Amino acid sequence: MNRTAALVPAAGRGERLGPGEPKALREIAGVPILIYAVSALASARSIDLVVVAAPQSDVESVTALLSQQSFSDKVSVVAGGDTRQESVARALIALPTDVDVVLVHDAARPLVPIELISAVVGSVRAGNPAVVPGLCVTDTIKEVNEHGDVLATIDRDPLRAIQTPQGFDRELLQRAHAELDESQGIFTDDAGLIEEMGVPVKVIEGHVEAMKITRPFDLAIAETIIAKRRASGVIT
Ligand code: CTP
Ligand code: MG
Repeated sequence: MNRTAALVPAAGRGERLGPGEPKALREIAGVPILIYAVSALASARSIDLVVVAAPQSDVESVTALLSQQSFSDKVSVVAGGDTRQESVARALIALPTDVDVVLVHDAARPLVPIELISAVVGSVRAGNPAVVPGLCVTDTIKEVNEHGDVLATIDRDPLRAIQTPQGFDRELLQRAHAELDESQGIFTDDAGLIEEMGVPVKVIEGHVEAMKITRPFDLAIAETIIAKRRASGVIT
């Protein structure tokens, strides 16, 4: 019971990116976003297998695409759900019994550095049941009402912008998904479910290159990161 798996929710439409294919299948510098994300996870020595939750309409094409990759023996594909939470739950069900640590990583964060993946696994294996990467917030944060009137300026010192991969004790994550459904609220990450159960969540230092592709401008940032890696000889 000591294998480590990564679950990759990739079933979103990418509506904020504008019209086109599902976000995970859009290309950056000629390569689909999903391939970057799965390649990083599969290349991490700390990850034994990867389960991708694909858009329901694209399970066959995603399976075919991943089967062509050099790391295909580590990867399997399931059909995702209508929400991120449901997509993660469907991938969790597909896990073999000998997995005891699980990472959940958004396909929409294709350029996650392998060192960050390994740091999250290491922190869970060191005894933290739930671990998330986070970055200090650099903008001034204000609370506003629905008319745009400022209610308060929030002290940003204790705030962190949370990324993925998020790492968990497998049994804990499974219990969280079994106990909390969407009637208990919409959770935008898996750590939110764990917090709801009253279990401590540890934040470790995140990485700017683990940024999420959400809007078209993010594609330009990702292209810049890829160009920088290619120029320095890092193959992505
Ligand atoms: N996701 C998923 N299943 C869903 C919705 C989202 O697996 N039903 C995944 C996305 O594919 C993405 C991650 O959850 O990798 C984070 O979600 P987000 O950035 O919101 O992606 P989308 O939902 O695709 O984008 P949008 O909200 O703009 O439509
Ligand atoms: Mg979404």
